[in-house]
Amino acid sequence: MLFYQAHLAVPNRRNYKDENVLKGKALFSSLNCIGCHAINQKTGTEAASDYLKNITIKPYSDFLLHDMGDDLADNRPDYLATGNEWRTQPLWGIGLISTVNGHTNLMHDGRAANIEEAILWHGGEAEDIRESFKNLSVDDREDLISFVNSL
Ligand code: HEC
Repeated sequence: MLFYQAHLAVPNRRNYKDENVLKGKALFSSLNCIGCHAINQKTGTEAASDYLKNITIKPYSDFLLHDMGDDLADNRPDYLATGNEWRTQPLWGIGLISTVNGHTNLMHDGRAANIEEAILWHGGEAEDIRESFKNLSVDDREDLISFVNSL
């Protein structure tokens, strides 16, 4: 079971050549979503098998804690994380959540009903980026969401 789970591949990206997805990808960088949802990570030398050592993966996360503001806080510290801090959720596979789970409830407690709501719940360190998202044209917002859905 451990071997199987450790070696399960992430779903392939879909629609990644579509013009709107490519535009959304550029916005994902220019708005600096990648400041936390860092695209590439390299695995280390300690791993369940040689196949998993020293490989580049694209989880779209820095795996770090960030202060996400008072509105998202549960005010319940967890080990070194304060009640305002959350770990950047990896975005790989996010576009298939509805297929796999039959819902698109996002963020740590499922309060966001979809990707747009999830972005609008970003506060604290991500507050400026949330405001930039709100200031985009309707088309640009849809392109960014199409990109996230392609992951
Ligand atoms: C300051 C760091 C930071 C920035 C910048 C940031 N995010 Fe996030 N993001 C997070 C954290 C932390 C979470 C997890 C919050 C939680 O679980 O409540 C998250 C969660 C999400 C989720 C929900 C994932 C899930 O499975 O629940 C989406 C979608 C998302 N971010 C998209 C974006 C997009 C698009 C941008 C740019 C407009 C962006 N984020 C910018 C830190 C950031």
